[in-house]
Amino acid sequence: MRKNRLRLAGVLAAALVVTGLGVPAAQAHGKPATLADLAQRHGRYLGSATDNPELVDEPYKQILGSEFNQITPGNGMKWYATEPEQGVFDFSAGDEIVNLARAHHQKVRGHTLVWHSQLPDWVTSRAWKAGELRAVLKKHIQTEVRHYRGKVFAWDVVNEAFNEDGTYRETVFYNTLGPGYIADALRWARQADPKVKLYLNDYNIEAVGAKSDAYYNLAKELKAQGVPLDGIGLQAHLALQYGYPTTLEDNLRRFSKLGLDTALTEVDIRMILPATEEKLAQQAQWYADVTDACLAVRRCVGITVWDWTDKYSWIPAFFEGEGAALPWDEQFQPKPAYFAIRGALK
Ligand code: G3I
Repeated sequence: MRKNRLRLAGVLAAALVVTGLGVPAAQAHGKPATLADLAQRHGRYLGSATDNPELVDEPYKQILGSEFNQITPGNGMKWYATEPEQGVFDFSAGDEIVNLARAHHQKVRGHTLVWHSQLPDWVTSRAWKAGELRAVLKKHIQTEVRHYRGKVFAWDVVNEAFNEDGTYRETVFYNTLGPGYIADALRWARQADPKVKLYLNDYNIEAVGAKSDAYYNLAKELKAQGVPLDGIGLQAHLALQYGYPTTLEDNLRRFSKLGLDTALTEVDIRMILPATEEKLAQQAQWYADVTDACLAVRRCVGITVWDWTDKYSWIPAFFEGEGAALPWDEQFQPKPAYFAIRGALK
C-alpha cells in the first residue's frame, strides 16, 4: 500500500515535470519561480544591469537580488570610474556591485575595459604616441582584470569597436594603435585572467548586416590567429519604431558555428511615449522573441536586461520622448513584457 502510494507520488511528480508544472525548491516552499529559476532550467542566466546610485533603493534591491542570477554594473567598471587619474585605480563602485551580487549568488559580467566613451579626461585630452598609449592600455586592462579575477565570469573587453557600415570606429585607440589594439586587448586580458570569458560587445549587431558581418569576419580572423576570444555580446537595445531584428537567431547561430559563445547583454525595447496597451503588447512579443532566439541557440549563454525597471532606464535621458523599455514599470509593477519572458522560459 505504502509502496503503491510512493509509486503514485513518483508518477505524479514525473507528470508535473513533463507538463512543465514541476516546481523548483523555491516554489515548493510557496515562492513562485523567478526569471532566474526559469532560465536556469535551460542552463542560461537571466540578468540585469544595475548602477551604484540605485542601491539606496531597498525595494529596488529586493527585486534585483531575487529575480536575477547575473548582474552587470552599468557604469562602475568603466575607465572613468576605475582609473580616474593615470595610474590611480579606484574599484570601489564595481566592488560594491560585485559584493552585492555575491551575497545573492549572482554572477557578474565585467563591463567594460576598452571603450571610446566614458573615458577619463587624462586619456582624451592629449595626443598619445603609440608606445605610450599601448602601455597605458595594457596597464589599465591588466590591473582591472587582475582585480576582478575570480569575481567576474566574463569581460566585455572591447565595446563598440565598429561603425554602422562595418568600418572601424575611429577612437583614440584605433587612431593611435590601428586595428591590432583589439587583438592586443584580448591577449592582455587573457594574461591577467586565464579563465574569464573574453567578449567583444556592440549594439545594432542583432540582425545579420554590415555591422554584425564586421564582427563575424573579425572573430573568424582572430580565431584563425589564435587570439583569445570567447564570445560576442549583442547589446540588443531595440526600439519598436525600427522593427524587430528577424535574423537574430541565424546571427547567433553563425557565431556559435565559429566556436563562440553569444549573449544578449543589454536588452531593452523602447517605444515612443506614451506607452499604449498595443505598444506594450508588441514589446512583450519582442521580449518573448528575443528570449526564444537565445534559447534556440545552444551557445547563447544568457540574457541581461539593461536594468529591470523603467524607473532607472537610461532611455529617457538619451532619447527624448522615448522610454518604457523594461519589463517592470516605474512603480516596480511587472508589465506584459515580464510575463512574456516568463512564458518563453517555461
Ligand atoms: O556621474 C555623473 C554625476 O556626477 C552627475 O551628477 C550626473 C548628471 O547627469 O551624471 C553622471 O554621469 C552619468 C553616468 O551615466 C553615471 O550615472 C552620465 O551623465 C550619463 O551619460 C551616463 O550614462 C550611461 C551611458 O552608458 C553613457 O554612455 C548610462 O548610465 C549607462 O547605462 C550607459 O550604458 C551603455 C553601455 O555602457 C554600453 N552600451 C550602451 C549603453 C547605453 O548607453
